[in-house]
Amino acid sequence: MSALLEVSGLDAYYGPIQALFGLDFVVEEGGVTALLGANGAGKTTTLRALSGLIRRQGDIRLGGRAIVGLSTEAVARLGVAHVPDGRGTFTDLTVEENLRLGAYVRRDRAEVRRDFDRVFGYFPRLAERRKQQAGTLSGGEQQMLAISRALLMRPKLLMLDEPSFGLAPMIVQEIFRILAAINRDEGVSMLIVEQNASLALDLADHAVLIETGRAAMSGAAHMLRADDAVRRAYLGY
Ligand SMILES: Nc1ncnc2c1ncn2[C@@H]1O[C@H](COP(=O)(O)OP(=O)(O)O)[C@@H](O)[C@H]1O
Ligand SMILES: [Mg+2]
Repeated sequence: MSALLEVSGLDAYYGPIQALFGLDFVVEEGGVTALLGANGAGKTTTLRALSGLIRRQGDIRLGGRAIVGLSTEAVARLGVAHVPDGRGTFTDLTVEENLRLGAYVRRDRAEVRRDFDRVFGYFPRLAERRKQQAGTLSGGEQQMLAISRALLMRPKLLMLDEPSFGLAPMIVQEIFRILAAINRDEGVSMLIVEQNASLALDLADHAVLIETGRAAMSGAAHMLRADDAVRRAYLGY
């Protein structure tokens, strides 16, 4: 495998406050990397830094191309889709209108229509609710909508911030099953932040454990799963 995303020495800041300190990690082409860590460790900040939403420095490469100086819009256009924590769907708009926003940068109308069918294939509940206001959907359906909207950008890299947050275990299982299918069938690479370390490590091939803005551990997902400290602190056995 070759790397799609290579991050080295990533620092990030909120105003004068430094929140990330020299993070290094990769997402392989077609791979899944999980970012693990306690509340406040810097996981959300890492995704924001990659999307260009906050001030950052270091080296970020997407397919070999340096993207650290680019605007959020330019990063998105290069194929990085960010599903933020709290989903970020437009609750007053319908399911269909939300999805159309995901495809707004695209000119290939026929392809977009085909992609609508594709995401409705993954998430049939959304097809049934396409005329419904997003705000009336369940939490799980809103997460599905946020993922679908990101997929309509035809991303190379899908960044997901705690897709399981606040959802019932059965819905979480369903969403992770679909994410695995999207990764496997479409080769979409993923960078996933997840509190449920066990689920994340099942999906991922690489993992990074972040502690107070630093990579405390990084490597193959099975290696982190086997680590005693990770097991005790994040897997609970
Ligand atoms: N908007 C913000 N302004 C200032 N500090 C922030 C902001 N958002 C997060 N932080 C700080 O950055 C650190 C990392 O936060 P975050 O990335 O949200 O953690 P995680 O997603 O791992 O729970 C924390 O110390 C947090 O208090
Ligand atoms: Mg967070």
